[in-house]
Amino acid sequence: MSLVITETTGRIAWLTINRPDKRNALNGDTRAAFIEALEAQRGAETRVIVVTGAGDKAFVAGADIGEIEGRTPMDQFDVMSRPSIFDAIEAFPKPVIAMINGFALGGGCELAMACDLRIAADTARLGQPEVNLGIIPGGGGTQRLPRLVGAGAALKLLYTGELIDAAEALQIGLVDEVVPLAQLRERVTALATTIADKSPVTLQLIKEAVRASMRVPLDEGLRLERALFGVAFASEDKAEGVRAFLEKRRAEFKGR
Ligand code: COA
Repeated sequence: MSLVITETTGRIAWLTINRPDKRNALNGDTRAAFIEALEAQRGAETRVIVVTGAGDKAFVAGADIGEIEGRTPMDQFDVMSRPSIFDAIEAFPKPVIAMINGFALGGGCELAMACDLRIAADTARLGQPEVNLGIIPGGGGTQRLPRLVGAGAALKLLYTGELIDAAEALQIGLVDEVVPLAQLRERVTALATTIADKSPVTLQLIKEAVRASMRVPLDEGLRLERALFGVAFASEDKAEGVRAFLEKRRAEFKGR
């Protein structure tokens, strides 16, 4: 069985990390398979990516702890110097939704945070338990977590290593929605379909602008927004969107 399963429904690509017996822990082969599976979705037919974990227990339970044990610091440095799944998702020019179907811990929580939106099952539990292993997060946890939830809530999770339930994750802003597990796929399908109907040009530009807002000062971000607005304005999809509104019909965006 492949370590990452790709399914396509309409314009949505579902990437499922597939090591349920190991709670979908990320070993090197799984990371490589994930990057390959993501890259395969660059084509125009895919409008939205959904990332999830196989089985009903875990989204992803973090880095594979078995692999960490035997590594020297230089081995680990080498692993962390390779292109990361977190950066790959963040840089991917299409919306990526995390469908959190269970434990999202350590690298699993970091994977969810690298996605653009996080929809969690009510059974999900999230946390950054690296502190219990004598390490710190290495997939962006110390950076993306405080940006999402603020320094206080982030430090509480990072210092204690404690897991929180989906309701608390929603309350602190770590996830965007919580739904009963039985309705998770249905809800994510509805959300992804709504997004997939929009212009891929605008989705890509929005993602780039919002991602930049987390890195650059406000004046620089506003300048980038104006420049990207110009790109949207020059697109065929802008002509179609405006025409469709005036003709009182649904726009058919082509991504051009
Ligand atoms: N790396 C490697 N293996 C892992 C793993 C991880 N991060 N998380 C779970 N597994 C493995 C277990 O070793 C076990 O393997 P085995 O059946 O060969 O013994 C299997 O997955 C099932 O795990 P188990 O602990 O029995 O399941 P559970 O449902 O009782 O608990 C978790 C699930 C996720 C709460 C628990 O496995 C856990 O705490 N995992 C580690 C989380 C972590 O610290 N992540 C950060 C890593 S940097």
